[in-house]
Parts: sequence; C-alpha cells; structure tokens
Amino acid sequence: MKFTFYGHACFQIQTEENKLLFDPFLTGNENAAITPDKVECDHLLISHAHADHFGDAVPIAERTGAKVIAIPEIIRSLPNAITNVNPMNIGGTYEGPFGQVKMVQAVHSSGIAGGVPIGFIILFNEGKTLYFGGDTGLFGDMKLYGDLYNIDYAVLPIGGKYTLDPEQALIAAKFLRAKTIIPIHYNTWDVIQQDPEKLKKAGEKEGIEVRIIQPGESMML
Ligand code: NI
Ligand code: MN
Repeated sequence: MKFTFYGHACFQIQTEENKLLFDPFLTGNENAAITPDKVECDHLLISHAHADHFGDAVPIAERTGAKVIAIPEIIRSLPNAITNVNPMNIGGTYEGPFGQVKMVQAVHSSGIAGGVPIGFIILFNEGKTLYFGGDTGLFGDMKLYGDLYNIDYAVLPIGGKYTLDPEQALIAAKFLRAKTIIPIHYNTWDVIQQDPEKLKKAGEKEGIEVRIIQPGESMML
C-alpha cells in the first residue's frame, strides 16, 4: 500500500484496487502538494467539519464520484447531487472492497451543529491496520483500541494547541500500541509549529518508529 501526504491532515492511501483520500484541505493551504482538481480518490473520508479538514470535499466528491464516509450531519450538509455516500457514526463499520473502516471517537469539536468529531480505524485486506485520529486530544479509550486492534500505523496530529502535541502523541501511540507514528497536522501555520525530529528521537527510546513525511512525498505501508 502506498501512503501519500498532501499536507496538513490530507493524505491518500492507495491499495491494489482503491484510493482513499482523507480530510482534503488543499485550497488555502500554501503547503498543499496537489490541487483539488487533480487529486484522485474513490473513497473520501472526513473526520470532522472544520475547514482545515472538510476543505475541498464537495468539489472533489462531485468530480470523482468517490464514496463519502462521514457522520450524518456532514453528509446531510452536502449538495443533493452527491449521492454516493455512507453516513455512519461512532461504532459503525463500512465494509469496503479494500477492507473495513471503523468510525471511532475523537476528542475535539465537530465544526457542525449536532455533530461529533471522529477518527477511523481501517483494517486493510492487505494485512495492515491504520488508525487516523482526526483532530483529537489524548483520551483513555485509545488503550481500548490498542487492546482490540493490532495497529500498525497511527496517523496522529502533533501540532498542539488544537490537538495532541508531540509528547501527547507519543503517549497516544503507547496507548494504541502502534508500531509506527506518522505525524501530521503541524507546521501548516505558526501556531502549530513543532519539530518532528524530537518526537522521532523520543519514539526511538520507546521502540516506536516515527516516519516523518513531507507534503508531496509517498511511502510504502
Ligand atoms: Ni479541527
Ligand atoms: Mn484541524
């Protein structure tokens, strides 16, 4: 599987058959590595409705026809012409051709009336399991996810201020028993400036790999 980082909290996971795109904030992010008219996906997963996550979701869904996976409040906010949708809520599972998407808790605000922020745990048929925290602070049920799932990759925000900071992200990875942290959601703006190399060094001491990826770069999962 190939993981491509497009900047901030936007990334694509390419499996043999599918392309999953997460939190497509591209317009307005000067570090974005692709434009909304070029990015490819057949599944579009949205963690919450803040502009730095929901972003270009509507034009991308309209152009690609990708299946949109989000909470019902976000799905209802989409134009009626977008019909390839999978509204679900915390506890829900989407059975995709690439594997299972489980919608899980995040501790944050939703950005939409009546909504909640969420994270995703994705069990890929190709054998890997990935947790995407969305925007979240630390919470104890990350330990539950660590008990229930064999998490290979934890895609975690580390910017602080609105989300986990690097120290908290390392605690989160330990709760999740994740083998690898992929840090995102930092250095987009001055208020979330962080040094991921420090996290990498701290992770090494704990036996947790930290894979730092720049906007526009890809790596194999
Ligand atoms: Ni947010
Ligand atoms: Mn955010």
